[in-house]
Amino acid sequence: ARPRPLGPYDTSEPITPWRDATTYNNYYEFGLGKDDPAREAADFRTRPWTVVVDGLVRRPQRIDVDTLTRWFPPEERIYRMRCVEAWSMVMPWSGFELGALIRRVEPLSTARYVAFTALHDPERMPGQLSDVLPWPYVEGLRLDEALHPLTLLATGLQGRPLPNQNGAPLRLVVPWKYGFKSIKAVARITFTREMPPTTWSLAAPDEYGFYANVNPAVDHPRWSQATERRIGDFARRPTLPFNGYADQVASLYAGMDLRRNF
Ligand code: MTE
Repeated sequence: ARPRPLGPYDTSEPITPWRDATTYNNYYEFGLGKDDPAREAADFRTRPWTVVVDGLVRRPQRIDVDTLTRWFPPEERIYRMRCVEAWSMVMPWSGFELGALIRRVEPLSTARYVAFTALHDPERMPGQLSDVLPWPYVEGLRLDEALHPLTLLATGLQGRPLPNQNGAPLRLVVPWKYGFKSIKAVARITFTREMPPTTWSLAAPDEYGFYANVNPAVDHPRWSQATERRIGDFARRPTLPFNGYADQVASLYAGMDLRRNF
């Protein structure tokens, strides 16, 4: 089949092979090793799945994940993904813009942030029996970041349903931020006035901030962020500001000190 024409948000870089994208994962609810999630999440049941929308919103509700994809038919977006550990991939996500959902539920004028909570169920997510991280995994965005057209809720990968190890049935994708912002297994979306806590900045506040914009000029305290290893490549490549999405998103941070707000 002829490939579809690339859209304005797609990268034309070579797509990371399926095998790498689905066996080299970070998903601490299913183990610490890169190949643990593929194995340990294999039998994770993702239906039925309800997403709770609450907080500072005019229309709080509980939405079945399959209702979400009926409301917002997924489209494909080929995005770069840059992990804070300095590896990267190119991922053809299927998903819908988080902004579409936000507009539908109508946040109140007092809402300034969106908080995300992953499923908390140690019987189904055995990694939650260990205290390597505080559970559940939580993340957050400023409302304008959440409304940006690049920000997706993904339900698929490479034209197939999202594999469990990649965050099925619903996973956030914020391509200009380090991968840990892209929380998997989203169960709750809460609109707040105050900046919400985020898992990695709770676990190691000196190493991980709220914003976590990809920034080659700000090193992790224990390693450089100037370059990255694209999975499948041998040589390292330079890391780009905002992971190559600066034209689209740099204006969100005008006037902010991105060394302090790392
Ligand atoms: N979401 C949850 N719930 N738990 C996690 O451990 N790891 C994050 C992020 N989302 C994580 C998560 C990290 S560190 C990265 S780099 C990406 O998921 C990895 O996504 P991938 O496995 O699809 O490449």
